[in-house]
Amino acid sequence: MIEQWLEQRARGEEQRQEDIAGFVTGVVEGSISPAQIGAWLAFVFTRGMSAQETVWLTEAMTQSGDTLSWDGLEGPFVDKHSTGGIGDKVSLVLAPLWAALGQRVPMLSGRGLGITGGTLDKLEAIPGYRTDLSVPELRTVLDEVGCFINGQTGDLAPADRILYATRNETGTVASVPLITASILSKKLVEGLDLLVMDVKCGSGAFMKTQAEAEALAESLERVGTGAGVEMRVRLTDMSTPLGCGIGNALEVQEAAQCLQGQGPQDLEDLVVELSGMGEAGRQALRDGSAFAKWQGMVRGHGGDPEASLHGSDATKMVLQSTHSGQVQSLDAGGIGRAAFVLGAGRRHATDPVHFGVGLQLLKKPGDPVHAGEDLVEIWHAQGHGLEEAQPAVEAAYHIK
Ligand code: URA
Repeated sequence: MIEQWLEQRARGEEQRQEDIAGFVTGVVEGSISPAQIGAWLAFVFTRGMSAQETVWLTEAMTQSGDTLSWDGLEGPFVDKHSTGGIGDKVSLVLAPLWAALGQRVPMLSGRGLGITGGTLDKLEAIPGYRTDLSVPELRTVLDEVGCFINGQTGDLAPADRILYATRNETGTVASVPLITASILSKKLVEGLDLLVMDVKCGSGAFMKTQAEAEALAESLERVGTGAGVEMRVRLTDMSTPLGCGIGNALEVQEAAQCLQGQGPQDLEDLVVELSGMGEAGRQALRDGSAFAKWQGMVRGHGGDPEASLHGSDATKMVLQSTHSGQVQSLDAGGIGRAAFVLGAGRRHATDPVHFGVGLQLLKKPGDPVHAGEDLVEIWHAQGHGLEEAQPAVEAAYHIK
């Protein structure tokens, strides 16, 4: 059968739903060889896949392992996923905010890879916070608090794990249908009513151009809707870092500030926009209700909510501006690379991260700055990566 499926894909012909499902089953059961998986992916990469086929692939991958069900709990069940960016700590704020507004948020997140950070790494910067709660533990936190943020638990979407690893090895990651199915299959296992997608675009994002980001946004919207979930897809800028804290502990601290109505404006505005709740969302950040949910969630995961306010325990070095003017732009990609070389991110999935390292941006685009004035705090661990980070930060700022 697989030989026939490969011939069809090589010719760019559409496959039937049962054949796509059969392929996914064969991948998980091991009856399809790694070489055959690689060839199938390469044909999809070069010849594409129709929207209908992408829905079938997504559904088959979603059904390839366990799925979560919240029977007995009252919804609506909502979640948000970002394609990743620099300083993007929106999930940490949005999950408790939604919970404060009566939504239930069963959020399964990932770790950072490359220069974009991962929500689980950020949360693990909070002493005691466990990202590996069991399904019964997650149900308790979801029931009592209204939101959780955890790692993949049990055997969820195992097909994605295998396909993603092969895509990495075969250079077939950058395919819109394959990215769509990969992202959505991991979210649709959560038993959602609504999924908000934040597709980032710019130098600090996976999608660098508007056209690439639009193609992915359109595909996610079409396929998610086709798979029966209400989708709200936003395309947002990632040419400039979001907020001022970049690095795990610094981002947790900024999220906790935002949850008390004291976050940077760009972060608060994006959180409120993605919440879809307008002024009620902003109000919940001001009146303490979202922060109370944050404290409940952190406690529910075994963490210390007080510690989430403390920021970094690394060593601080302050970089001053060499000239006067106005910050014209701040390159998110350069800032992300600087935080990465300091140790905030990981090159390989199993690498450790240093929670305390990162950057605190004291000036953002539009801000006036004088020569000799503090521009950015660089938080480092015994100087690790500092030699590379400092010029990267200087190059990222365009002051005129
Ligand atoms: N993130 C995912 O989860 N999958 C992809 O294919 C790309 C980014």
